[in-house]
Amino acid sequence: MSLSYKPVIWNRTKIIYDAVMLAGIFIYILIFLRLGPVISSALRDTDLPIQRMRAFGSLALLMLTIVLAIGPLARIDARFIPLLYNRRHFGVMTAIIAATHAYYVLGWYFSFSPTPQLTALFTSNTSFTSTAGFPFELFGVFALVILAVLAVTSHDFWLSFLTPPVWKAIHMSVYFAYAAVILHVALGALIDRRDLALAFLSLGGLATLCVLHLIAGRRETSADAAASKKAPEAPWVIVGDLSEIAEGRAIIGAAPGGERIAVFRSKGGLSAVSNICSHQNGPIGEGKVVIGFITCPWHGYQYRPEDGCSPPPFRERIRKYRLRLEGSSVLVDPEPLPLGTKLEPLAIPAELLPAVAAPKKEGTV
Ligand code: HEM
Ligand code: FES
Repeated sequence: MSLSYKPVIWNRTKIIYDAVMLAGIFIYILIFLRLGPVISSALRDTDLPIQRMRAFGSLALLMLTIVLAIGPLARIDARFIPLLYNRRHFGVMTAIIAATHAYYVLGWYFSFSPTPQLTALFTSNTSFTSTAGFPFELFGVFALVILAVLAVTSHDFWLSFLTPPVWKAIHMSVYFAYAAVILHVALGALIDRRDLALAFLSLGGLATLCVLHLIAGRRETSADAAASKKAPEAPWVIVGDLSEIAEGRAIIGAAPGGERIAVFRSKGGLSAVSNICSHQNGPIGEGKVVIGFITCPWHGYQYRPEDGCSPPPFRERIRKYRLRLEGSSVLVDPEPLPLGTKLEPLAIPAELLPAVAAPKKEGTV
C-alpha cells in the first residue's frame, strides 16, 4: 500500500469505470456537435471550432459539478458509493477536458493575432474595472491551473509524499476552481447570449451542489451526535445485536465523542476497529473481511482484525477497541487501545453462533 508504487494499478472495476466515463464523454461531444446546432440558434450561427470549444467547456463544467456531487451523494445514498471509488480518474479526466477547451480557445480566438497566443490571451482584454467587460478568461486560467495541479498530484505517491493533511488541503482547492469556473461562465458566456441550457448547467448545478452538501452535512452531524446507547457499566456503549452482523461484515456504532467504531464478524469471532481508514478516511465498516483481512471498500487497503495493522510490507494502522458480549448485545469500550495493540477476536459462544444475519448484497451499507 504505502511502500511500493506502480504508475497505474488497473483492476476490472477501474477499467469498467473508465470505459463508461469515456463512452459518456464521446456521446456528449457527439450529441453537442450534431444535435446542438439543430436545437440552438446560438450554436447554429457559429463555426465548428467555436462549437467544439463550447462542447468541451460545457462538458468540463458538467464533469466538475458531478465530481463535487459524488461525495455528498454517496453519503446520502449508498448506491452512489461505487462512483466514489475511482473519483480521481473522473477528476483527472475533467482537467483533460478543460485543457482541451482552453486549447480550442487559444487556437481559434487568438490564431489571427500577430502577438503570440498566450500573450494575446493575457493582454487582449484588460477592462478590470467593468463588470461586463471583465477579462473572464482569467478565471478560466485560474481554474485550469488548479485542476492541473490536482490532476498531477492525484496519485497515491503524492498523498504519501505530501502527507494526507497537506494533500487534502491542496485538493480542497477544487472548490476555488469551481467558484472560478462559475464566475468565468457567468461573466463571459452568459452575458451576451441567452443560453438557458448553460444557465441551468452553471447556476442549477451550483444550487444543486449547495443543497446536496447541506443535506449530507446535516446527516453527518446528526449521526455523530447520536452516539450509541450507553451500557449501564459506563464507559461501555452498545453498538448493536450480534444477529445484525453478517459473516465477514460489520455494524457501525458511535462513541460519545462521535468517533465511529466498526465491529466485524468473521469465522466465529468479533473485532472492533476504527471506522476510519488510514488511507483516505474511507468508511471501513462498509467494507468486508477478505481472506482474513478487514478490507476498506474505497481502495482496498487491508488491516489485520487482531491488531488493526496492514500486513507487511505495509505499515498502515487503525485503532482497535475492546469488546464484550452481554447476551447477544455487542458492547464496545470507546477508549481506543494504543495503535498496534494485539487483541485476539472475541470468540462468539457456541450457543450464539447461529445468530447470523443474512449477508448484505454487494454495494449496500
Ligand atoms: C486557460 C483556461 C481557459 C480559457 C482561456 C477559457 C476561455 C474561454 C472563452 C474565451 C470562452 C467564451 C467562448 C464563447 O462563448 O465564445 C469560454 C467559455 C466557457 N468556458 Fe472557458 N476557458 C478556460 C478554462 C475553462 C475551464 C477550466 C472551464 C470549466 C471547468 C471552462 C468552462 C467554460 C464554459 C462552460 C464556457 C461556456 C461555453 C459555452 O458557451 O457553451 N473554461 N472559455
Ligand atoms: S480510503 Fe482508500 S483504502 Fe480506505
